[in-house]
Amino acid sequence: MPSHVTLKLDHKELSLPTIVGTEGEKAFDIRSLRNDSGYIAYDEGFGNTGSCESAVTFVDGEAGILRYRGYPIEQLAEHSSFIETAYLIMNGELPTPAQRKRFSQLLTENAPIHSTTEHLYEGFPWDAPPMAILSAMLNSLGCYYPHLATNDHQRDLENFEETAAIIISKVRTIAAYSYRASRGLPYNYPRRDLPYCENFLHMMFSTPFEPYIALPEVAQALNLFLLLHADHEQNCSTSTVRTVASSGANLFASTAAGVCALWGPLHGGANMAVIEMLKSIHAEGDDGTKFVAAAKSGKADKRLMGFGHRVYKHYDPRAKIIKESFYNTLASLGIKDDPLLNIAMRLEAAALKDDYFLSRKLYPNVDFYSGLIMRAIGIPENMFTVMFAIGRMPGWIANWKEVASNPKGRIYRPRQIYVGPNKRDYVPPHQRGA
Ligand code: CMC
Repeated sequence: MPSHVTLKLDHKELSLPTIVGTEGEKAFDIRSLRNDSGYIAYDEGFGNTGSCESAVTFVDGEAGILRYRGYPIEQLAEHSSFIETAYLIMNGELPTPAQRKRFSQLLTENAPIHSTTEHLYEGFPWDAPPMAILSAMLNSLGCYYPHLATNDHQRDLENFEETAAIIISKVRTIAAYSYRASRGLPYNYPRRDLPYCENFLHMMFSTPFEPYIALPEVAQALNLFLLLHADHEQNCSTSTVRTVASSGANLFASTAAGVCALWGPLHGGANMAVIEMLKSIHAEGDDGTKFVAAAKSGKADKRLMGFGHRVYKHYDPRAKIIKESFYNTLASLGIKDDPLLNIAMRLEAAALKDDYFLSRKLYPNVDFYSGLIMRAIGIPENMFTVMFAIGRMPGWIANWKEVASNPKGRIYRPRQIYVGPNKRDYVPPHQRGA
C-alpha cells in the first residue's frame, strides 16, 4: 500500500496521503484538494466518500460481515442482550458485572417521563405518526435537562453516562406512550421489576384490568430485533446525527434528527413498507410473480421493499439471523401458517434466481423479515419504524460521542456543483409577464 497516491489535474500533479483502517479499508485523503487544485470531489449519495474515522462498527458489504466494536454480530446475537450490546456500542467495551449493574440501575431510575410530558401528547392529532411524535418528544426531553443539553460539547460530555442512560431508557417509554395516545388508552407507568423489553411490552399492552405478561419468546424476539438494529456505521440517520452534532448540538437534538432521517421508506421506514407491499400482493391474489416482474422496471415506486442495500452486496447478515429467529418465534407462538410469510418466501426465492436482482447484487436486507417478526409479536404496523429507532439509539449516541470528543472536529459542510442560472439582473414585477 503506497503512502501517497498521485492525482494528475490539468498540468499539475498532486500527492495525496493514503489512510488505512484497522480492517484494511483504503482511502486517500483529499482534505487539501480544493486548496491545492481548485477542484472538489463529486460523489452524490456519498457512496465513495468517507466522512469520518469511526471505531464503533465495521461492515464489509462484499463479505456480509458486521461487527460492533470488533465483536461479530452472530456472536452478540447468540450470547448478548440489547442492553449489554448498547453498553458495548456506547462505551467501547463489554461491561463488567459492576458496570452492567450500574447501567441497569440508571435505566430503571430513568424510565419514567416527567408528568407534564403527558400533556405534550395531547397536542398531537390522535392519528399523528408515532415517528413524528418520537422526534418531537426526544427534542423536548432536552428541555427537562438543560444542564445535559448545553450545546457545549465539553460540558455535555461530562454527563455523558447519565444522558445516554436517560435517552436509552426514556425512548422506550416515549414510544409506548405515543402508541397509547394514538389509541386513546391510559398510559402505563414503567415497572421497576421488569427488564428492558418486558417493560416496553408492559407499557404498550397492559390494561388497568390486566397486566400484560410477555411470553419469554416474545421478549427474546424483541431483544434480538433491537440488538440487530443497534448500529450500522455511516447510514443515512447516523450521518444525520453526526452532521447535527458537528454544529455543537446536544445529544437530545442530534438523536431527534436521527429519528427524522430514519423515517423514510428507503431507510427505517422500509420495515413498514415491506408489510404494506406483502399485504397488497396478498389482496391482489398475486403469488409474487407479477410484483417481481414490476420491480424490474427500475421505477422507484415499484421497488421490492426489503431488498438491496447500499453497502451489502451479499445477504445482509442481520437478515439471516432474523429470518432464523422468526421461524423459532412463529413455532413457539403456535403460528402455523402466515400468508404474508408465504408470499415473502416466494418473493425471496423468485428474486434470488432472477438475473435482474443477481446482477445488481440485490439480496434481502434486515427489513425484509423484521416487519414480519414485529407483526408476529403483536407490534402495530405504525410502530415498526419506531422500534427500529429504539434499537438504533446506542449507535446514534456512540456516533454523537465520537463527534463531540473529536478535538479536531469540523462542522460538516459539503460543497456542491452549482448548476443554476448564471448571474442575471433583477426583473421588476411589471416586466415578468402575466
Ligand atoms: N427493487 C428493485 N430494484 C432495485 C432495488 C429494489 N429494492 N434496490 C435497488 N434496485 C436497483 C435500482 O433500480 C438500480 O438499478 P439500475 O442500475 O438499473 O438503475 C440498482 O438496483 C442500484 O440501485 P441504487 O438505487 O443505486 O442503490 P442504492 O445503494 O442507492 O440504494 C437502497 C440502496 C437500500 C435504498 C435500495 O436498494 C432500495 O431502495 N431498497 C428498498 C428499500 C429498503 O429495503 N430499504 C432498507 C435498507 S436496509 C435498512 C437500513 O439500513 O435502513
